[in-house]
Amino acid sequence: MAILHNDTFLRALLRQPVDYTPLWIMRQAGRYLPEYNATRARAGDFLSLCKSPDLATEVTLQPLERFPLDAAILFSDILTIPDAMGLGLRFAAGEGPKIDRPLRDEAAVRALRAPDPAASLRYVTDAVSQIRRALDGRMPLIGFSGSPYTLACYMIEGGGSDDYRHIKGMLYARPDLLHRILEVTTQAVIDYLNAQIAAGAQAVMVFDSWGGSLSHAAFHEFSLPYLARIAEGLTPAAEGRIVPRIVFTKGGGLWLESLAGAGYDALGLDWAVDIGEARRRVGHRVALQGNCDPMALFGTPQSIEVEVSRILASYGKGSGHVFNLGHGVSQFTPPEHVGALVDAVHRLSRAYHHDQPAGSPT
Ligand code: CP3
Repeated sequence: MAILHNDTFLRALLRQPVDYTPLWIMRQAGRYLPEYNATRARAGDFLSLCKSPDLATEVTLQPLERFPLDAAILFSDILTIPDAMGLGLRFAAGEGPKIDRPLRDEAAVRALRAPDPAASLRYVTDAVSQIRRALDGRMPLIGFSGSPYTLACYMIEGGGSDDYRHIKGMLYARPDLLHRILEVTTQAVIDYLNAQIAAGAQAVMVFDSWGGSLSHAAFHEFSLPYLARIAEGLTPAAEGRIVPRIVFTKGGGLWLESLAGAGYDALGLDWAVDIGEARRRVGHRVALQGNCDPMALFGTPQSIEVEVSRILASYGKGSGHVFNLGHGVSQFTPPEHVGALVDAVHRLSRAYHHDQPAGSPT
């Protein structure tokens, strides 16, 4: 088994005893860090940054040099899969992602194939191995993918959307076509995450960022079953350790019981949910990751500390909590406020773990 100096994050995901609540931050390597912007400028654009294993390694490590975080996350994007499927991906500066050839007709859907990660996503697995070497066992590395429904949103809308009218039009008019896209994409996600695990990812997270835009019935038909199939298809362990799985349905607070049965070790929570209530609902089945409002970082170091103590107290004593934001950190966040958050979580959380006798049920 490869040496891992800080396994607090992996232990918390498996609800094993820990000394403090571990944390990492969604989009921890991103535009709020001046050193990230400098590296992206050297790369030319965001996609070239993702496609260079050297530069992806460099930016993955940047937040870890500043803050004592408990996990690293692969620097990449969920849209690498639609790109590898040949749909044509661009990130126009300040505009977000654009897909050149969105899936709008039956012929395009029938032609869709799951890419072979060894051929068209090699730059991602190369980055994973290179980041693992650079981390040298300091902390675990998280791999990730978008969920089939979230990827389908971009593949059908052709970019971000306020109303999702193309995908929802297909969902209601031609559910068979949407299911076909989701089938192919589910296979792509399984192959992609297993390739990341084979290359060295020590935990994996599935971002179901747009699952929360669905109706109750549609979520249970078009997102949840595919999330469950992914969990079933993932490599369970590598290097002698369990590879924990996290699923994050943004806006999924109403469906935590369903999500807790989907085969994942942990559920990501957005900030709309009370984490103590979530724990009472599902905490005997899964760990919880979250759930500070990213905008809380626009307060002061004192107000950030108050918010951290509120979330820690709401979760309560014992393991099974990975602290995080409820969504990505905003590009306008002052980096020193991220530092205040990290410090507060580490300092204040010890009281929630200390009198846990080792090995006691949590
Ligand atoms: O967390 C991390 O530090 C790892 C890196 C990461 C990025 N994207 C880098 C990124 C991760 C995990 C993602 C996931 C991702 N990408 C999601 C799921 C999470 C979520 O936010 O709900 C989604 C929906 C995407 C698609 C995407 N990528 C969008 C909509 C955008 C534009 C919006 C924005 O924030 O600019 C991106 C671009 C992107 N992905 C950036 C970063 C650092 C900013 C690009 C830049 O540097 O200009």
